[in-house]
Amino acid sequence: IREQLLARPQPASWNMLDAGLRGCVQCPLHAPATQVVPGQGPRDAEIMIVGEQPGDQEDLAGVPFVGPAGQLFDALATESGLDRGLAYVTNAVKHFKFEPRGKRRIHKTPHKTEVHACRNWLQTEIRLVQPKLIVALGATALAALTGDGKDLLKRRGGIEDHDGTPVFVTVHPSFLLRLPVAEQAKAKAEFVRDLRMARDYLA
Ligand code: URA
Repeated sequence: IREQLLARPQPASWNMLDAGLRGCVQCPLHAPATQVVPGQGPRDAEIMIVGEQPGDQEDLAGVPFVGPAGQLFDALATESGLDRGLAYVTNAVKHFKFEPRGKRRIHKTPHKTEVHACRNWLQTEIRLVQPKLIVALGATALAALTGDGKDLLKRRGGIEDHDGTPVFVTVHPSFLLRLPVAEQAKAKAEFVRDLRMARDYLA
C-alpha cells in the first residue's frame, strides 16, 4: 500500500487537483458524503490554514469552515488581525466522516488510514499555493502535515516543518466550542494569541 501511495501521480495543476478531488475514491469516505470539500482562498496566499475535515454544513455547502467551528474561527481570526479572506483554508481530509443518528449526522474523527489516503491532495495544495506558513488546527491536521499528531498541547505555539514549509501548531476551534462555558473566554483569548503569533511570523 505504501508503494502504491508513493507512486500515485500528483496533480500538477489546479484543474487536475479539482478533477482528482471530485472523482476521489481513495478511501471509503466519499460514498456517504454529499460532495468533496476542496480548499478555499487565494491561490497565492502567504498563509494556509489546515483543519481536520468538513463538518455537516461544509459537506452540504461544499465549502470549508462555514459551520459553527468555521464561524468561530472567522471571528477569532478577525480579532487577531488575521484576515481569513487572505488565507487559503483547507482540511486534512476532504470528505465528511459521520455516523447517522436519527436525522442528525454525528461527526466522527477520521482514521489515520483516511488521513493518509487524503495526504496527496493536501500536499498538492501546498505545492500549488506555496504558502510561507501553514497553521495546523488540531491533532489531525498536525498528523497529516508532520506525520505525528501526538501531544498537541505541548507542541502548541511552536513551529514545525512540512517539507521545508514552517507549520505553526494550535488547537482546533471545535475544541473551544466543546469546553464548559466558564472556560471558553480564556480559551478563546489563548487562541487569538496563537493566531497573532502566526500573523506576526509573516510580518
Ligand atoms: N472543522 C474542520 O476541521 N474543517 C471544516 O471545514 C469545518 C469544521
